Amino acid sequence: MDISPATRADIDRLVALLGGEPAAQHHVLARWQLQQSGDATYLLARRNGAIVGQTMLLRHSKYPEVSEDPAEINALHAFIQHEGIGTALVLAAEALAGDWGRSWIGLGVEPVNDGARRLYERLGYQLRPGPRVIDRWTEQDVDGTVLRAHADECDYLLKPL
Ligand SMILES: CC(C)(COP(=O)(O)OP(=O)(O)OC[C@H]1O[C@@H](n2cnc3c(N)ncnc32)[C@H](O)[C@@H]1OP(=O)(O)O)[C@@H](O)C(=O)NCCC(=O)NCCS
Repeated sequence: MDISPATRADIDRLVALLGGEPAAQHHVLARWQLQQSGDATYLLARRNGAIVGQTMLLRHSKYPEVSEDPAEINALHAFIQHEGIGTALVLAAEALAGDWGRSWIGLGVEPVNDGARRLYERLGYQLRPGPRVIDRWTEQDVDGTVLRAHADECDYLLKPL
């Protein structure tokens, strides 16, 4: 498996694959723009030429209450599960955060997401003491029209690097 930042060609490919799913297409384009701005890296996992997973690594937490200023894993997704793709993406994100000279890496996880939480805890992530964070995000049409707004309560997990 190879994990590396998304290229413009990858984005075009993902958008084409997501034809008929405008909200998902919007997310892909938004992640590309964030990478282009320098505020994040959009990591893609590839196996035998196919894109099999993704995550964003943000340079700074999206949650203002997280004072440790970690690099932050966001939108981790293994397109094929239970084959080590999620673990490999988290390890690649950690390596990149280390290259950025960061002392902490963190992420929000919904309390009901037992599978993801098991993965993070196995890799040494621990619950940050204090109140839960609220993950606010929107589903948008490709033209940016907001279709639905979400506010999901999440536990925040941290790992020192
Ligand atoms: C959470 C998520 C990213 C995990 O990705 P994944 O690629 O399935 O993770 P891994 O394969 O590394 O590990 C998952 C399990 O598969 C097992 N596994 C890994 N490689 C394996 C293999 N070759 N054969 C059998 N099992 C394997 C791991 O031991 C782990 O077992 P566990 O659940 O009992 O702890 C994935 O389930 C996902 O995309 N979920 C939907 C989106 C989501 O919830 N994202 C997280 C947001 S916080």
